[in-house]
Order: sequence, then structure tokens, then C-alpha cells
Amino acid sequence: MVGFPHVTTRRFTVGIIGGGQLARMMYEASIPLGIDVRLLAEGPDVSAATVVHDVTVGDYTDPETVRRFATGCDVITFDHEHVPTDLLHELEANGVAVRPGPEALVHAQDKVVMRERMTALGAPCPVFRVVADAAELTAFGDDVGWPVIAKTSRGGYDGKGVFKIDSAAEAAVPFDGLRPGVRIVAEEFIDFARELSVLVVRSPSGQAVAYPVSETLQQGGICVETITPAPDLSDAQRIAIEQLGLRIAHELGVVGVLAVELMQRADGQIVINELAMRPHNTGHWSIDGAHTSQFGNHLRAVLDLPLGDPTTRAPVTVMTNVLGGSVEDLPSALLHCFARDPKLRVELYGKEVKPGRKVGHVTTYGNDLRDVRRRARHAANYLMGNPDE
Ligand SMILES: Nc1ncnc2c1ncn2[C@@H]1O[C@H](COP(=O)(O)OP(=O)(O)O)[C@@H](O)[C@H]1O
Ligand SMILES: [Mg+2]
Repeated sequence: MVGFPHVTTRRFTVGIIGGGQLARMMYEASIPLGIDVRLLAEGPDVSAATVVHDVTVGDYTDPETVRRFATGCDVITFDHEHVPTDLLHELEANGVAVRPGPEALVHAQDKVVMRERMTALGAPCPVFRVVADAAELTAFGDDVGWPVIAKTSRGGYDGKGVFKIDSAAEAAVPFDGLRPGVRIVAEEFIDFARELSVLVVRSPSGQAVAYPVSETLQQGGICVETITPAPDLSDAQRIAIEQLGLRIAHELGVVGVLAVELMQRADGQIVINELAMRPHNTGHWSIDGAHTSQFGNHLRAVLDLPLGDPTTRAPVTVMTNVLGGSVEDLPSALLHCFARDPKLRVELYGKEVKPGRKVGHVTTYGNDLRDVRRRARHAANYLMGNPDE
């Protein structure tokens, strides 16, 4: 009998460092592309580790662990920005494709490096100064006017590490318990009218796409809602913001998603808040609202595949985060949400519910902003245990 020869189909293997919800949603996007995902997770129960089949539990700051993990991966990418750049440089020197690479990633790790580079590029930033102690922070406030913002240069997220300092009396607060190697950058307080974000995706061969600009709402430093496209943005402003994102991605040599968080003043002027180099919370709307999601495009970019269409499917898409509230039984709460709104899209991250923690998001889309926003807010509030809001 003549048998068929044994054929092994070549597949891409993408190693993701970090097991949060971003890795989980990248994994979701990898399935239709036939990509093998390997995960280096902080623990066996973190969000992505409970769904990915090839999981290594280990410390992403340990060189041997990361080296061993990278062996056999076509490319390494990230769920978070905390892997030390020395380690990534070493991987690159040993022929591992690290995307985004350490030269770019440092701008998302360190807010001082980012501010200095953005200023050198002529990109709009708040007035800022690195300050060594409370006296220098006070001098900065006296120069630019109170209040001021003080931020830790590294390690902050969801508003942790961002302090609004109203007067000299509070100037010691940001220095309390500061970790070694972390600096404080003082920034002019921007009395913004709203916050915006633009996501661009760039591949190693230089192809790049920009998603429509989103309006983003933060409460207590945490993103709670995005509206895409951002309402009341002129074509000129939209194009200028998209070009800014594309230019930064090009200048920094970013591969994958670059999110540029922006503050918009009442007169329309924009100022850069910070950069992220990974899929970003303000791009979750794209899973349902764009032809190609940020997760699909991130994977395409790190594999140097042609990028997909970032444009919207509907006139307006709203994403609302589900933050941990009084509801622990999220699956049962879905009964109400889905019965009420069959078009609702929900992503639950499989995380334990803790107060204020991002445990999922909902997305709605349609023609009318008020209606779309009301539906998203109702569902998210219900899932958070605030059904009357
Ligand atoms: N210079 C500033 N002026 C006014 N508000 C700011 C300034 N910088 C940051 N913020 C507010 O703090 C939030 C968190 O700051 P950000 O640097 O993005 O920290 P994180 O890394 O925690 O996201 C921003 O989304 C914005 O609402
Ligand atoms: Mg931020």
C-alpha cells in the first residue's frame, strides 16, 4: 500500500512574555492565523495562562528563564513593558527577534527617556523637569505654577505612580518609598478638555497603519471608556494626530502596536501624555469595531506579515471597562446583559474579581453615539454591580 508521506506544516511560533489579558486577547487573535503561541507567565492562574496550552511559569527578569523560553520561538513579543532591556539586547545579540526591540521599548518603560526623546523630535509635551527631591519639585511648581503632576519614571500603571501635587506642602509625597533606579519627573499640570489616544501598528519592513483616534475617559488614572472615532475632531486634527503617531513609530523603530496617549486642551491643542508599545486598553474596541483588531495587527506586525485594515465597521464604537465591583459571579450577570442586548460584545479576562481591577470589557457599536454609549454603560455597570446607573 502506498502511504502518504508524513508532512509537517510549518507554523509561526510567537513567544509572549507576560500572562495578562493582553496576552489572552493576542492568543485569541492567533487562532484563526494558525499561529502557535508560547507564553511566559508570572503564575499558573494569570489571565492568559488559563487558556494558552503552551505555558512556562517563570520570572521574566531571570536571564536563563527568558533565554530558554525564547529558544524555538520565531519572535518574542510582550503583554507588558517590564522586561529589562539588557536582557532583550542579549537575546537580540544571540539572534532572537525581539519585537518591539529594546531600543524602542525603553521609551515605553521610562517616562524620562520618553519625554526627552519626544522633545528632541519636536513632539508636543508638557513642560517637564527631572527633580531629585521635594525642594526641586517645589522650585518647579513655583516656576510653572501649581498644581503640578509628579510621576515615577518607571513601573507605574493605571495611575499608580502619578501624583497631583497642589502645593509645596505635598512635595515630599512622590519621593516616599521610591525604588532604586526610579526617578521623579515633574510635569506642568495640563487642564485638559479630554484625553485621546491613537494606535499605530508598524512592521519591521516599515509598513504602518493608524487606527482612528479614540476619545478616552480615565477615572482615578484608570481607563474606563473609549469612543471611536473621537467625536468633534476636525479632519485636520485627526490627520495631524495620526501623522504624529506614525512619525513616532517610525523614528523610534517600533514594531507592533504603539499607543500614543494624548491630552487635548480646550483650544484643541494636543500634548503627549505617554507611550505604550503593546496592544493597549484604548484599542480593545477594535476587536469588534475594526476590520482588523489591534491584536491581529500586532501579531501580523511582529511576524512581518502585511497589516490588516484598521478602519471601523460602524459609525461609532464604545468600549467600557468592567472593573471589579460587588459582582463576583460575572457569568450569571451575563444572563441579564445578553438578554437585554443581543448585539453586546463582552470579553471577560478570567481574573479574580478585586475592587477596581480590570476584569473585562464590553463593546457596543452602531449609528448613534448616545444610544451606543448608553448600552455599553448599562452592561458594564451591571457587571460591576451598579445596575441602576
Ligand atoms: N501632565 C499632566 N497633566 C494633567 N493630567 C495628567 C498629566 N499627566 C498625566 N495625567 C493624568 O494621569 C493619567 C495617568 O497618567 P499616565 O502617565 O498615563 O500614567 P499611567 O502609566 O499610570 O497610565 C493620565 O491619563 C491623565 O489623566
Ligand atoms: Mg497612561
